[in-house]
Amino acid sequence: MIPVKTEEEIALLRESCRIVKECLDFVGGHIRAGMTTKEVDDMVYRFITAEGAEPSCLGYCGFPASACVSVNEVVVHGIPGDRVLCEGDIVSVDLCAYKNGFHGDGARTFAIGEVSAEKQKLIRVTKECFFQGIEGLKAGTPLYDIGYKVQRYAEANGFSVIRSYTGHGIGREMHEDPAVPNYGRKGTGPRLPAGAVICVEPMIAAGGWRVQVADDGWTATMLDKKPAAHYENTIVIRENGVEILTL
Ligand code: MF3
Ligand code: CO
Repeated sequence: MIPVKTEEEIALLRESCRIVKECLDFVGGHIRAGMTTKEVDDMVYRFITAEGAEPSCLGYCGFPASACVSVNEVVVHGIPGDRVLCEGDIVSVDLCAYKNGFHGDGARTFAIGEVSAEKQKLIRVTKECFFQGIEGLKAGTPLYDIGYKVQRYAEANGFSVIRSYTGHGIGREMHEDPAVPNYGRKGTGPRLPAGAVICVEPMIAAGGWRVQVADDGWTATMLDKKPAAHYENTIVIRENGVEILTL
């Protein structure tokens, strides 16, 4: 069963997601060469707590920071630290805010200064994969249509989709049912009900799809060391479409 939320619960989710969206915008406006990934994390911590929310990632399964900050070939779950951002890097920032009993979740990949044409295309296509994935989405759509559309678009652009991480439902828990893969067969999976709240989060690689997790248990790096990007929003399934809460 795919959980559904009441309008009262969605109103609370909307507030948590507003904080996520504004925090991502704030990070996008301030991230620059010379900053460490820890300084990016500090910005996120201060922003979220100033909004009266908590960073859901901090302490989640032992994760030691408020945001995942993933540079270049790190696709997700980068642990903020002393890595200095340089011109030409791409940086994926993934963060969650918890307020009034509900979590919001979103991610963006930012370019530091001028980046290669391949990285520019990767950031653009990853964002477009999200919009392809939700194209035509409404109550009754089979769940795996999302991944089918994401994968089709990514591969048509010469990129690959990460298999070992997925999107997810969200609400009182940061990760709820269902898992939302970025690959799949058209017309398959359970039908999404109106009021379901899910995170659609394409993780797209310029090279192959294989990922290796570092000894720290978190840092997920592309095996071929090619760059990867991430774009995520929390959305509500409605009778006639979707409502994007983190945009
Ligand atoms: N925000 C991530 C997601 O999209 C989860 C991060 S894992 C954590 O699901 F440990 F950092 F919280
Ligand atoms: Co997520």
